[in-house]
Amino acid sequence: MSRVLSGIQPTGGIHLGNYVGAIRQYVADQYVHDAFYCVVDLHALTVPRDPADLRAKTMETAQVLLAAGLDPDVCTLFVQSHVHEHTELAWLLECTASVGELRRMTQFKDKAARGGEESAGVGLFTYPVLMAADILIYDADRVPVGDDQRQHLEFTRDLAARFNSRYGPVFKVPAAAIPKVGARIMDLQTPTAKMSKSALSPQGTALVLEPPEVLTRKIKRAVTDTGTEVRYDPVTKPGVSNLLELLAVATGRGPEEVATGYTQYGPLKADTAAAVIELLRPVQERYRELAGDPGGTAALLEKGAAKARAVASVTLARAKEAAGLLAPR
Ligand code: TYM
Repeated sequence: MSRVLSGIQPTGGIHLGNYVGAIRQYVADQYVHDAFYCVVDLHALTVPRDPADLRAKTMETAQVLLAAGLDPDVCTLFVQSHVHEHTELAWLLECTASVGELRRMTQFKDKAARGGEESAGVGLFTYPVLMAADILIYDADRVPVGDDQRQHLEFTRDLAARFNSRYGPVFKVPAAAIPKVGARIMDLQTPTAKMSKSALSPQGTALVLEPPEVLTRKIKRAVTDTGTEVRYDPVTKPGVSNLLELLAVATGRGPEEVATGYTQYGPLKADTAAAVIELLRPVQERYRELAGDPGGTAALLEKGAAKARAVASVTLARAKEAAGLLAPR
């Protein structure tokens, strides 16, 4: 059975882009592949975080994943920092990566540009290497992600191939699984920028756990494009196309097909809001039940980490041996 691995950061709140671009795929993939999913708390440390908030968000993120339909009897759900092998493999991979290729990562360039590269954290710079370790340590064949992770996946593939050519066949070279529709949900206020946990305006980011009236308000106030025509064309009509993608995903149709039902923006917004609320309703309901039982979730995560470690430790040992590290007696 092929192996799937993906990760999600416990930063901000889980938003519609995360849900549509990634989490939906996690849920579907768990039934057809041997699936490993982690809440990547170590990645969240690449920018300064309030410790209590990070802990709370890690639990919340795990519970959102469970609420969205991850079944801990079917897949392996765990917290990244509970499996220390990831960071150990990251060191071996850092010694395989070059400064030049890390500097070319657009996510690093964007984030470093905000505060200046000199003061950007080293963790922000080496982040893609830890991400590669997350993937390669599970011998993953397939990595379900949104479009923004494409470059990190290419980098992971390059690193795996380079390590293999240096030391022999240690790692599987994984492939990104990016959905055809919904891989890049845009900010509702700035439809030329992706919806993001670090967005400048909270009005542009619709959160999975937000009350229906807030979701409705955000979607109804979404910035649309000049003109009145409802047509799917992400280049010239990014705002309308974003709504069409959301409505398409929520109703299981294609965005072009959805567009044919509308001649005005108002009804499109109203229907999109209603469909998104219906899509998230079961997730919100299940989340409310899970939120009352953090102990139960912690127990699931403990089991998940044990399952993950059993796989990760074998791959790590293989990589260390191949690289020439003397095994302890
Ligand atoms: P993160 O936490 O930013 O996002 C989690 C997942 O959501 C997808 N995503 C989106 N999809 C569609 N539209 C959007 N606007 C949108 N925003 C985010 C992301 O592509 C991602 O799939 N580096 C990763 C976390 C990570 C990881 C990994 C992923 C760490 N290790 C190993 C896969 C495999 C990140 O920051 O995702």
